[in-house]
Amino acid sequence: IINNVIGREIIDSRGNPTVEAEVYLMDGTIGRGDVPSGASTGKFEALELRDNNAARFMGKGVSKAVTHINEIIFPALSGLDAADIYNIDNVMIALDGTADKSKLGANAILAVSIACARAAAAALGLPLYRFLGGVNANRLPVPMMNILNGGAHAANTVDVQEFMIMPVGASHFHEGLQWCTEVFHTLADLLKAKKMTTSVGDEGGFAPDLKSDTEAIEYILAAIIKAGYEPKKDFVLAIDAAASEWKSATKGKYILPKSGQTFTSVELVKHWQELCSNYPIYSLEDGLDEEDWEGWQWMTQQLGKKIQLVGDDLFVTNTARLEKGIKLHCANSILIKLNQIGSVSETLEAIKKAHKAGYTAIVSHRSGETEDTTISDLAVALNTCQIKTGAPNRSERVAKYNQLLRIEEELGKSAVYPGIQAFNR
Ligand code: PGA
Ligand code: ZN
Repeated sequence: IINNVIGREIIDSRGNPTVEAEVYLMDGTIGRGDVPSGASTGKFEALELRDNNAARFMGKGVSKAVTHINEIIFPALSGLDAADIYNIDNVMIALDGTADKSKLGANAILAVSIACARAAAAALGLPLYRFLGGVNANRLPVPMMNILNGGAHAANTVDVQEFMIMPVGASHFHEGLQWCTEVFHTLADLLKAKKMTTSVGDEGGFAPDLKSDTEAIEYILAAIIKAGYEPKKDFVLAIDAAASEWKSATKGKYILPKSGQTFTSVELVKHWQELCSNYPIYSLEDGLDEEDWEGWQWMTQQLGKKIQLVGDDLFVTNTARLEKGIKLHCANSILIKLNQIGSVSETLEAIKKAHKAGYTAIVSHRSGETEDTTISDLAVALNTCQIKTGAPNRSERVAKYNQLLRIEEELGKSAVYPGIQAFNR
């Protein structure tokens, strides 16, 4: 039973304010939730409420959202059962009354939603993944680990936002994580040998100036091999183009902001097709713009049988947009970000809907993060088999991996690491 709810303004991994909430139960149990923040945000995401007061935090303060927690959300939730997370979320959604949570702020609602789930789990003496997922939660996710950053996440010349490695050949999560760190360090050595920078982007991956996406891929493959692993067998690759950032004023035309290259939707699909046939790329996220449904249909026809096509900005963890995508045969996978939709229960529903339609679901961090590790538990809770949470570098990313190590240890013999099966649904 909820006794108190407290909101506060904390800072995220980019030094910008974000919302933290604490929920206090009658029995003394406390749950805490922090909200992450994106940079290449989708147009259709729930609203992140910022103060827009230039005198504080360059306008990025979240004191209004915090006030909404303390003065509006707390009185409405006081006395309710925190364990009924669907009811808790529905009360807040009704209180807000808008489709995009713009009245109270998705950041205010999500912080409380996470804090309630955590408090309820703690009160029941359950780990969060067990509370959210029940008895069947036993699969550790394969990391989709971003080790080379570009796009809006790095001040370099690379247009593709993320180049990722997936240790599908490992037998356990901890082994896969070890392999990834070895490739990460080897990649650093290769870049240093070429006198390139090893400074990192927002998600902890290196951010060197490179001429093309093929050059980035060649570096990563070289690092995998030099670290003693075999591409395709031990590691496959994944890309997040974040092509909604390449949108031009003319519909169906793309202008890459850094290189200045231009493509039509069809040309861009052809480009991805070539890249995926030349390299062991098994997953492509946001290969086209969030409003280019026709392009997505074409891309899914051309590539959907061969590789995982992930909708991030396209679906924004929104069940209505996902339903549209399922109906139109767009993509075959959804990226799951709690703060795109703004509550735990709606996130659970988005994953369940995706799975039911035969789509994979990949639980994801944001480029602006905190030490909150809810996404690690969420990935295990719903057996999503894949997680995207950055490089093994920067503590806000590492916190998620370390939480997964703890969960794997706790699950003991019942822990399953799906490897290449992670792509099956
Ligand atoms: P964002 O990027 O958190 O900046 O939106 C992550 C992604 O595009 O997957
Ligand atoms: Zn993305």
